[in-house]
Amino acid sequence: MEKAMIEKLIDTAIKQLDFSYTPYSGFKVGAALLTKKGEIYTGCNIENASYGLSNCAERSAIFAAYSQGYRKQDIVSLAIVSDGKRIGTPCGACRQVLVELLEKDTPIVLSNGKDTLVTTIAELLPMSFDSEDLS
Ligand code: THU
Repeated sequence: MEKAMIEKLIDTAIKQLDFSYTPYSGFKVGAALLTKKGEIYTGCNIENASYGLSNCAERSAIFAAYSQGYRKQDIVSLAIVSDGKRIGTPCGACRQVLVELLEKDTPIVLSNGKDTLVTTIAELLPMSFDSEDLS
């Protein structure tokens, strides 16, 4: 992936931090997903007083894209940005969702606005349980 596109996705994800609804943790996460058509779908974390019902940024973004009919083969990359001291990585629940909804080698861009790491869901969730296990 081109450096300029990685930066554009990170910048778009950073803008999402303003929309995060985090009255409980105060920890803001933004996400931006690029489709092969060149469209960008975004998401942010939305919390709830019943904490477990909170939705993470990356799930919001990928569900937004899937809701418009996009599927894993249509996705170029997903960027996830948080405003922590170190680069944030997806929680376990999101890794399980991403292993189903992204291709194993789709670049996942992680950034805290200063440092950036490009990885894949195969790297983040090795030996995953997925649809193949049900066959
Ligand atoms: N969070 C995300 O949005 N994505 C992640 O990958 C890690 C955690 C959110 C959930 C919650 O709103 C806050 O960060 C603190 O856990």
